[in-house]
Amino acid sequence: MTAYLLRGVSVVGAAPRDLLIRDGVIADGSADGAEIVDAAGLVALPGLVDLHTHLREPGREDAETVETGSRAAALGGYTAVFAMANTSPVADTAGVVEQVWRLGREAGLVDVQPIGAVTVGLAGKQLAELGAMATSAAGVRIFSDDGHCVADPRLMRRALEYVKAFDGIIAQHAEEPRLTEGAQMHEGEVSTRLGLTGWPAVAEEAIIARDVLLAEHVGSRLHVCHVSTAGSVEVLRQAKARGVRVTAEVTPHHLLLTDELAASYDPVYKVNPPLRTAADVQALREALVEGVIDIVATDHAPHAVEDKECEWAYARPGMVGLETALPVVLSVLGERWDLIAERMSRTPARIAGLTGHGTGLAVGDPANLTLVDPSARRVVDPAELASRSRNTPYAGTTLPGRIVATFLRGEPTVLDGKAVK
Ligand code: DOR
Ligand code: ZN
Repeated sequence: MTAYLLRGVSVVGAAPRDLLIRDGVIADGSADGAEIVDAAGLVALPGLVDLHTHLREPGREDAETVETGSRAAALGGYTAVFAMANTSPVADTAGVVEQVWRLGREAGLVDVQPIGAVTVGLAGKQLAELGAMATSAAGVRIFSDDGHCVADPRLMRRALEYVKAFDGIIAQHAEEPRLTEGAQMHEGEVSTRLGLTGWPAVAEEAIIARDVLLAEHVGSRLHVCHVSTAGSVEVLRQAKARGVRVTAEVTPHHLLLTDELAASYDPVYKVNPPLRTAADVQALREALVEGVIDIVATDHAPHAVEDKECEWAYARPGMVGLETALPVVLSVLGERWDLIAERMSRTPARIAGLTGHGTGLAVGDPANLTLVDPSARRVVDPAELASRSRNTPYAGTTLPGRIVATFLRGEPTVLDGKAVK
């Protein structure tokens, strides 16, 4: 195993020094035989951890596979991703989660941790085999029907009760389905102007409010996916102040883009939950800094051309995000490295109970890290993405920061900005 000496690297924004990687861990002592990496001007972050990725395998390998999604993740600076359960077949059994887990190991580019479905077939009728998935080789701890809301309150309560035994988490896609029937975009001034059916903020806020009460009642852990409104932030703030065991994520796109973009009718901007108003974006940014929103998660949602490049009404919701997440967050937060490490690596690893990731990069820690060039700027070119899908809303946009290298347990997965395998 090659050793690496990262010369003159700034670890999470601290003063430049040398960082030695040997035998898969951060090491000290002699750098004899180590390959020298000139890391002057580069910042080392603990490898990013994404709690919300759609890898599409099994079933839609034309849009993404575990391997192509893993490569996109590594290029984005990630060392671990959690794969959402809305595959085909749905990841609602030990068999499917073990398959995804094994494919992730085989690709060997990031640690792929499957998320299990809460309900059979994501149909919201009957609990999936949560226990069997938890005790499977994949060791599932997070369950989600993402793409769908667990709308039935009794089922949500049962799910929270069930996972409490092993300190599992229910990750909710908060969308009251009766309030979003036929919805095409955020309900507001722009939807009125365009004559498109709206997805009201209250459809998200009502479910979060209900679920924090259920989580409080049961004493179980709730995670709220892709929070998108200022009102949701207020619900979360109150719940956290009361000590409810709730965590929440925001996507890069909800931190940057607004519903005005829907006026282009370009389906690349169609996403669920939809892009909201500038006031929502501002509230989400503040909540992320404050910690009311705990983490950034990509909701990387690759879609094949025929599912995306069609009329707005028929296009699938979702955008790819793994390869642009850190640049977008950098553009939003600026070079607040400790905050970025906290929101994109340490806290997601802690929420998921993922050991070896999101560490302090101290001697002896597994060498899961990424090297960023903060002075570089990059124009996003969809053709250059490693993801099998091209549905990025940032095509032609200049974003700060370039991921130069990523290491998974001391082995480079990305070097010189290129995937190693
Ligand atoms: O935009 C979205 N795309 N939101 C979801 O909840 C699901 C996801 C997908 O699977 O494409
Ligand atoms: Zn979702």
